[in-house]
Amino acid sequence: MPTPTLAERYARARQQLDAVDQSHALNFYAELDDAARAQLLAEIEGVDWPEVKRLIRTHVKQKPMWTMPGNVQPAPWYPYAPPRDSSLHEKYDKARALGEQLIRSGKVAAFTVAGGQGSRLGYEGPKGCYPATPIRELPLFACFAEYLHNIQKRFKCIVPWYVMTSPINDQPTRDFFAEQKHFGLDPAHIMIFPQAMFPAIDMHTGKVLLAAKHSLALSPNGHGGSLKALYASGAIADMQKRGVEHISYTQVDNPIVRMIDPLFLGLHAMDDAQMSSKMLPKCEPMEKLGNFCTVDGKMTVIEYSNLPEELAHQRTPDGELRFRAGSIAIHAIRVDFVASLNTSADGFALPWNRAEKKVACIDPVTAKPIDPATPNAVKLETFVFDALPMTRSSVLYETDRQDEFAPIKNASAPGVADSPQTSKAIQTARAAAWLEAKGCKVARGAEGEPLAVIEIKQTTAIYPQDLQDIKTPAQINAGESVLL
Ligand code: UD1
Repeated sequence: MPTPTLAERYARARQQLDAVDQSHALNFYAELDDAARAQLLAEIEGVDWPEVKRLIRTHVKQKPMWTMPGNVQPAPWYPYAPPRDSSLHEKYDKARALGEQLIRSGKVAAFTVAGGQGSRLGYEGPKGCYPATPIRELPLFACFAEYLHNIQKRFKCIVPWYVMTSPINDQPTRDFFAEQKHFGLDPAHIMIFPQAMFPAIDMHTGKVLLAAKHSLALSPNGHGGSLKALYASGAIADMQKRGVEHISYTQVDNPIVRMIDPLFLGLHAMDDAQMSSKMLPKCEPMEKLGNFCTVDGKMTVIEYSNLPEELAHQRTPDGELRFRAGSIAIHAIRVDFVASLNTSADGFALPWNRAEKKVACIDPVTAKPIDPATPNAVKLETFVFDALPMTRSSVLYETDRQDEFAPIKNASAPGVADSPQTSKAIQTARAAAWLEAKGCKVARGAEGEPLAVIEIKQTTAIYPQDLQDIKTPAQINAGESVLL
């Protein structure tokens, strides 16, 4: 087929936009040069306009009502470590061995979702480039690369790494990987691909916002978009060609995440789960983590904002929160599950979530820039965990906060959680605990906080036991900086 001319593309775009009452997107077309016209048309062509029209009706002009589903129960989970004398010990040993076998035989891929805009952190550039560790200030992507180096050496195998970006940060991410020489990993086993975008919509008029005369105000369509992007990008086909069966899904914001965890992957594979998750016990009823529940027997995450307070506060007879399994966005997903979602005859759709945001834009008639002081737009996103109820079976495994959760989401400020500062404190606390387990004396303050800064490279250790054969200090004094 011959490539369509700009005039032909314009005619098609105009027709599409007229049909959904969004033709203002072409208001400035006549003023644009060809390059700008091509950019605008490409953006318009990338949007599912009938879906936009439907969502304006259901999610913009009104706030969709969330109704508490029928039979909601706390989801059962595998404990971090089985209780003494539990028969689970044997299962865990077998699961760990199975997970190790899957990794060793190349059946596991690492997948990092890094398409978010990271606006809360206030960092220009892809979040994966953000300096994360307490001493070396190693960027997040480099932390993950060190983890992969460790796993590849340990199991003498290749773990291909897939990284989802968005069209906004795709090129800077690729440039960073190239500048850093792929952190010493073989680029033949790294695939970077962008997710799809969705337009921000004026919450009063229901019109798609324009970022500039030649550009729509687009933003990534949520991490749920990964399930489509994995397929559309050819990543799933690439995994199938390599014989990869399981995707280890993690977020870009957590420098100590166990990107590839043999036990978790083994439990997921042993129970023949299609998509599994890790959970953290919530530290208080209203902690802002999604809640793992079963709804009519199906694994489901109910957002913290949706779980009725009365349920959130319920306690078991032993005083624990009844709904205490919080979601930290770590999943194991079967490759054939993602493939089947994308090839099913009826297609698949995750529910859309509405967020009111401040979105800088231009006036669609005068082109005057608008920098709103209060939210002016609705952004719509899908969430990956909403695929859980579509699974035949799903495993939930507990992890430990200090061992695996030190996210960087917000700019550091007094009293603010999930910041670079709190992440570094957790990284040091984890390192201190691992060293103390080996007999090292670490100076601690009144609240138990280590008084030194300690960083353990992930090439050195990803488990406390890894420190056994390494020379480590017998004592760490207040004010010291120790890098291992
Ligand atoms: C998310 C979870 C929350 C969990 C927390 C754990 C949701 C709605 N909430 O919150 O339950 O406790 O993580 O850290 O998921 N991303 C994309 N594309 C997008 C949007 C996001 O790739 O379009 C990626 C980001 O780059 C990041 C991750 O998804 O790696 C999380 O994004 P974010 O929207 O910041 O979720 P949180 O609010 O942190």
